[in-house]
Amino acid sequence: MPWRKARQNSQNRNTMKNLSRRDWFRKSFTAAAGVVAGTSVFDQLLAAPVSRAEAVHQLRVPAGGKLVRLGSNENPYGPSAKARQAIVDAMGEFNRYSFEAVMEFRKTLAEKEGVTPDHILVVNGSSETLCLSGMVAKLEGGAVLSAFPTFRSLMEYAEKLNARWDRVDLDEYHVHNLEALAAAVKSDTRMLFVCNPNNPTGTVVEGARYRDFCLEMSKKTTVLADEAYLEFLEPREQRSMVELVRQGQNIIVSRTFSKVAGLAGLRIGYCVAPPDTIRKLQKFQMGPVINQAALAAAKVSLGDTAFAEMTRAKNNEALKYFLTYLDQKKWFHGASRANCVLFPAPKDGKTILAETEKRGFQIRVWDYQGKEWCRVSIGTLDEMKAFTKVFDEVVA
Ligand SMILES: Cc1ncc(COP(=O)(O)O)c(C=O)c1O
Repeated sequence: MPWRKARQNSQNRNTMKNLSRRDWFRKSFTAAAGVVAGTSVFDQLLAAPVSRAEAVHQLRVPAGGKLVRLGSNENPYGPSAKARQAIVDAMGEFNRYSFEAVMEFRKTLAEKEGVTPDHILVVNGSSETLCLSGMVAKLEGGAVLSAFPTFRSLMEYAEKLNARWDRVDLDEYHVHNLEALAAAVKSDTRMLFVCNPNNPTGTVVEGARYRDFCLEMSKKTTVLADEAYLEFLEPREQRSMVELVRQGQNIIVSRTFSKVAGLAGLRIGYCVAPPDTIRKLQKFQMGPVINQAALAAAKVSLGDTAFAEMTRAKNNEALKYFLTYLDQKKWFHGASRANCVLFPAPKDGKTILAETEKRGFQIRVWDYQGKEWCRVSIGTLDEMKAFTKVFDEVVA
C-alpha cells in the first residue's frame, strides 16, 4: 500500500500554533450559534450556508454597487473570447434540442479521455453528477464518507436521502488524511467522495499517492473523484483518476467547465465512469438538459490551452500575493494550488461577512473544529490588492 508510506510534502510550516491565540473569538461564535437560523437572500444566491455565521447573515449589497465575488471560486477572466464567439456562432441552433450535439460532444470527450462514449455522461454542471451519484449509490440507509471540510453538495444531498455523512478531518496542513479516511470506510459506506485539489482549502494530494489510495478504496466502495480544480495545476501535474476508470475500477470522475474554462453560469460538466455506472446515472438525468450555448462554448474550451494557461498564470500571481499577505499576518493556511484559500477567521464570522460586504466584497465563512474560517476565492490581482486593504479595516 504505497500511499500509506509517503508523507505529504507540504510547503506550509505556518501551523495551527497560530490558532490558539485566536481562541478568543470562540465566545462570539457560541453567541452566534444561539441565534435562530433563517433563509436569507444570501442562502438563495449561494449554495447552502456552510456555517452558523452564514445562516444568520443577511446579504448587504452596497448601495448602487455590485459585490466583488470572492465567494464562489469562479474564474474572473472567463468566458474566453473563443467561447463567446462559439456561442454567437451556435445561435442558429438555439431553436433545436441538443440531442445530436450531446452525442457529438460525448464522442469528443471520449477521445480526449481515452475511453469509449459510453463511459461519458455530459451534465448540466458537475453539481448534477454529484446529485445523480447520490441517487444511484443506494445511499438510503447507508453512508457517504468524505474529508472535512470539502465541497459538501454530494454529502448534503445524501443526507436528504437519509444517508449518514461520515467526515474525517483534514490533517494539520489541511490536506486529505488518507490513512484516517481508509480507516473510516465501514461495511455500509456506499460512496467515498474525494476532491483533489480540495475546496475550500485548495490543497493537493500528490498524484501517485492519490492514485494508489483511490485504487485501493475503489475495491471497497464507489469512489467519486471530484476534479473541478485539477486544471489549476500545471499540465504535467494534472493526474486524472480517469486512468482508473480505463482499468474498469469502481470510480466516477467528475469534471466541470465552471472553473478554469470560466463557464460557471452556462452550467456544463461531464463525468467519466464504467458504462454500467453511466447507464445508472443516466436513468435519473432529466433530459435533454444541456443547452446549445453551453455545448458550443465547452467544445471550444477543450482545445483552448492558451486561455487555460492565462487563467493559471494570473491565478497563480494573485494567489501568491494573497498567501504572502496571510503569511505576513501569521495566519495559518494550507498550501493552496487552486483558486481558494481557507484561513482562521481573525474576528467573528458574522461581523466579517457583514463588514466585507458593506465594503463591496463577498467571501464565505466556514465552521470547522469548533472555530470559524474564512474562505476567500482568488480574483484578479487588483481585486486581491483591494480586498486585503478592506480586510485589514474589517479585522482591525
Ligand atoms: C469541488 C467542486 N465540485 C463541484 C462544484 C460544482 O460546480 P459546477 O456545478 O458549477 O460544475 C464545485 C463548485 O464550486 C466545486 O467546488
